[in-house]
Amino acid sequence: MRSMSSDATTVDGNRLWRELDALAQFSEAPAPAVTRVVFSDVDRRAREYVKALCREALLEIREDAVGNTFARWPGTDPVLPAVATGSHIDAIPNAGIFDGTVGVLGAIEAFRALRRSGFDPRRSLELIVFTSEEPTRFGVGCLGSRLMCSGLDPDITDNMKDRDGRALAEIRADAGFTGPLSSVALKKDRYAAFVELHIEQGPILETRGLDIGVVTAIAAPASLRVHIEGEGGHAGAVLMPDRRDAFLAAAEVALAVEAAARGTGSIDSVGTVGVCEVFPGAINSVPSQATLGVDVRDIEGARRDAALAAIRKACEEIAARRRVSIVIETINADAPCQCAPAIIEAIAAAAAARGLRAASLISRAYHDSLFMSRVAPTGMIFIPCRGGVSHRPDEYASPDAIARGVAVLADTLAALASG
Ligand code: HGY
Ligand code: MN
Ligand code: MN
Repeated sequence: MRSMSSDATTVDGNRLWRELDALAQFSEAPAPAVTRVVFSDVDRRAREYVKALCREALLEIREDAVGNTFARWPGTDPVLPAVATGSHIDAIPNAGIFDGTVGVLGAIEAFRALRRSGFDPRRSLELIVFTSEEPTRFGVGCLGSRLMCSGLDPDITDNMKDRDGRALAEIRADAGFTGPLSSVALKKDRYAAFVELHIEQGPILETRGLDIGVVTAIAAPASLRVHIEGEGGHAGAVLMPDRRDAFLAAAEVALAVEAAARGTGSIDSVGTVGVCEVFPGAINSVPSQATLGVDVRDIEGARRDAALAAIRKACEEIAARRRVSIVIETINADAPCQCAPAIIEAIAAAAAARGLRAASLISRAYHDSLFMSRVAPTGMIFIPCRGGVSHRPDEYASPDAIARGVAVLADTLAALASG
C-alpha cells in the first residue's frame, strides 16, 4: 500500500492495512467473513486490541457506562470543546472487514500522522469507538450514540434483551461496564465537531471514478418487529380451507414491505425483511407463529413514513383475510439528518487540497453520525468500496482508497482543531 502524503501529513498505509487485518481476526466467522457482535468474547478482545493501539499512540482512554470508548489527544487549549471522530468495530454476522473499522483504525493513523508531522491541536482531538452500532444483538442500531445524544430511555434500554433473554444491564456488567446509563448522555457543547470516515457501502464513488464522498445527508432508518399469530396443526391433517398459517401471512407481509418501498415512486425508498422466525419450525407442522424483522428507509422522512403506513394498512387486510393476528412493534423510526455546512466545507477543502476527485453524496446507510449530528456539527467522509458491496465477506476497500480517506480525515481534523 502506498502512503498518502502532502507537505504536512503522511499516512502510513501499510501499517494501517496490517492493523485492519489484525482486527479482522477477532471474529466468530472464518475469514474472509467477520462476525463480531457487541460484547461477545471476540468483541471484547477486539476492544482491547484497539485500546492498545490508542495507548501506543499516546491517547488518554476512558470508557462510559455502555462501553463507548474515548481516546483523547489533549489540545493546547484543553478547555475548548474538542473535535471528535470515530465509528464502530462491531460487525453483523457474515460481514466484511471494513465497515466501521476504517473509521476507527483510520482515525488512530490520522492522529499518528498528524503527530509525526509536528502538528499540535489547539482543540483536543478525540476518537470515539461507539458501542453496538449494529442492531444485531439488541435489535436497535447505534445504541451507544443514541444514549450519548439522549435518544433512548436509559432504564428501558438497560432492560433490552438479546435472543437468549439476557438484559443489556447484565451483559454490559459482565463486560466490565457498570454505572447508570443516564451518565452516558453528553454534556452540551462537549464537541465542536464530529467527523466520521466510512466506506460508502454503495456503488456511486466507484462508478463515477471518485476518491472521496462528502456526505451531505444521512437517510432516515426505521425498524419494525412484526409478530403474526395463526393456528398450528398437523401438516397432513389440517385441510387447506381450514388453515390459519402464520408463515404464509408473514410471506404476504414481506411482499407488502417490498410493494410499499417500490410503491413510493422514488428510488430512494428501500424496504427489507432480513429476519424471519417461524414457530414451531417443524417441517410437518403448520406454523402457528411467525416474527419478521423489517427495515424501511428513505432519504425523506415523510416518504419513509408513507411507506410504513402502507405496510400497516396491508397488515390489517392480510390479518382479516387470513384470520390471523398481526402485531407491529416499532423499534425505531428516526429522522434523517443534514450534515453541517462548515464540516462539509472542511472535508471538501481537504480533498481539494490533495487534488482528490470528490463529490457530494447522501448516505443510504445509517451511522453513529446520524445521532452525533444531534449534539455537534457533523460530517462524514466516504471512500469507495468495490462494487458498492457491504455487509458481506467480499466487502473490499483498496489500500490506496483507505489511505486517501485517512489523509482527508487528518487534514480535516487538523483544520477543525486549529479553529
Ligand atoms: O444498517 C446500516 O445502515 C448500518 O450499516 N448499521
Ligand atoms: Mn454496518
Ligand atoms: Mn458502519
